[in-house]
Amino acid sequence: MAEAFRADVLEGLGQVKKAVPARWLYDDAGSALFEEITRLPEYYATRAETEVLENRGGEFARLIGAGRAVVEFGSGSSVKTPLLLRAIDPAAYVPLDIAGDFLREAAAELQAKFPALPVYPVEADFMRQVDLPGAIHPMRKLGFFPGSTIGNMVPRTAADLLREMKETLQEGWGGNAEDAPLLLIGMDLVKDPVVLEAAYDDAAGVTARFNLNLATRINRELGGDIPLDDLTHRAIWNDAFARIEMHLQATRDIDFTVAGNRFTMRAGETIHTENSHKFTRRSANLLLLAGGWTPQARWLDSEERFSVILARGSEFRNAP
Ligand code: AVI
Repeated sequence: MAEAFRADVLEGLGQVKKAVPARWLYDDAGSALFEEITRLPEYYATRAETEVLENRGGEFARLIGAGRAVVEFGSGSSVKTPLLLRAIDPAAYVPLDIAGDFLREAAAELQAKFPALPVYPVEADFMRQVDLPGAIHPMRKLGFFPGSTIGNMVPRTAADLLREMKETLQEGWGGNAEDAPLLLIGMDLVKDPVVLEAAYDDAAGVTARFNLNLATRINRELGGDIPLDDLTHRAIWNDAFARIEMHLQATRDIDFTVAGNRFTMRAGETIHTENSHKFTRRSANLLLLAGGWTPQARWLDSEERFSVILARGSEFRNAP
């Protein structure tokens, strides 16, 4: 982990356009700040998705049916999960997460809420195919990927992940249509850039702290001396790619070292730290199809800011 962080940071800062992969935003401090973000008045996404999960249980039950194993990708604190589990009467719950301690704690909490439900936490990197516990293989499966985390990936990575998810979920599937794996996925929608930029640059400055925490982490863990007071948080709507980009921008010419390597930034230059892609109905469907999933149903919150999509593992390529 430490070596991967070092390699990603040194490689990213050495590029002409400096960029550090967004996954490094989530150390303990970053994860706590993200939890705070989800409660901000400007950050509508969590509330909008929760509204859909709370109100559409009847339709989930009808379209998904009882008796599936729910496999949650990157389950984290599993806060939205009970809404789904209560609605569909599943056969088992499999939270997948790379953070083992956090995963086991959240799984134990969920088990306490659903004492009769078999819960099988799996510590794994869900970006690649995961071997599910043997007891899960014969069960029909529903993947659950809320939060529009898919939007944090560039389209090629997102399509690769969707394909890996399908590989994970189709283990033990005999090939008949009714038992095909399903996926319930949250995908945030394109909207007024003013609303989007506020959601990623809130008045209380929590998102700014979340972004700057990356530089703090680099200084602490990689022996860096990045001058934190000379970096500022920027959230920019990139219309061509339909995404909010987070950057750390130098407010004056600076130089610093990280792990013994020297870097310079001119005033105005940025380190790109995160993408958050937003979708239309068509772009969401296209991405799902590229990843091997056929969209079946789509729900929006009452203000039409966020979508939750149910998709079925595609059995064949649409012609040609
Ligand atoms: C985790 N992910 C879906 C969040 C998002 O909205 O892209 C991360 C985030 N970054 C800044 N605010 C929220």
